[in-house]
Amino acid sequence: MKFTGKTLWITGASSGIGRAVAIELSLKKCHLILSARQKEALEEVAAICTNNGSTASVMPFDLGHTDSITKAVNEVLEIEKTIDGLYHFGGISQRSYANDTPINVDRKIFDTNFFGTVELTKKVLPNLIANRGGQIGVTSSIVGKFGFPYRSSYAATKHALHGFFESLRAENASNNIKVSMIIPGRIKTNISMNALDKDGNARNKMDEGQDKGLSVEKTARIIVKKLEKEKKEILVGGNELMMVHIRRFFPRLYYYLSTKVQPL
Ligand SMILES: NC(=O)c1ccc[n+]([C@@H]2O[C@H](COP(=O)([O-])OP(=O)(O)OC[C@H]3O[C@@H](n4cnc5c(N)ncnc54)[C@H](OP(=O)(O)O)[C@@H]3O)[C@@H](O)[C@H]2O)c1
Repeated sequence: MKFTGKTLWITGASSGIGRAVAIELSLKKCHLILSARQKEALEEVAAICTNNGSTASVMPFDLGHTDSITKAVNEVLEIEKTIDGLYHFGGISQRSYANDTPINVDRKIFDTNFFGTVELTKKVLPNLIANRGGQIGVTSSIVGKFGFPYRSSYAATKHALHGFFESLRAENASNNIKVSMIIPGRIKTNISMNALDKDGNARNKMDEGQDKGLSVEKTARIIVKKLEKEKKEILVGGNELMMVHIRRFFPRLYYYLSTKVQPL
């Protein structure tokens, strides 16, 4: 995938990894559509991207509401003839035990992370196919590869994304649709501050582990380089990525560690 001259739609572009990836992509001189809920934050990112020599427009919407997604897609497709790439970074985490978390909070996390991402994809995919193909980047997590305490529904949404998008990739190989699963470890963003507690409110605390995570700038450089190479899985982070390999090759060690690990 060569990004120069392409039209790329990025969710989660107001903050953290999505924001940094938008800025990194803007160095490639492309056209960016930036989405998240916070319009002002998106406008700031758009100004940085324009300074870097790209063009950028903002399309605020809420991944958790189907009407909001539909309106955004209709407005974008009315203006843009073609979309070449759709990159999903929008998402919300969780910091609460499964036993304490009411089902409406689990559903809220699924609505945003899974159904919002899937619905946007389904609405944009016909455009990518009509355009003889395109790229879809989907942000999972290392906890999309194994379960982890204090994040039961969050981990479940990320596992679900793997199942959905691996199937979609297989179904659309002949349509030239390239799917990259982005699998971050611990990246230094506000994800733990924005994570929902058992009452469905933002937790407003930075995790110690998160604070020591990889910088968003370095993360974005790695992601963009690997998206360019159309890698099917993009692991990005520090030593915590080892857990993916431990879960795969030494499951009994993972079962033990997962009961001992400090979840924050
Ligand atoms: N940081 C990590 O260590 C880490 C690790 C693994 C995976 N990830 C994944 O990476 C992605 C980006 O997270 P981040 O770390 O960059 O966290 P972040 O700074 O909190 O960014 C999350 C982004 O998602 C957007 N968002 C949240 N809820 C939304 C909604 N209902 N509708 C539309 N947009 C919504 C936020 O924008 P608004 O508030 O403006 O809507 C923001 O742009 C997420 O999918 C996350 O699960 C992060």
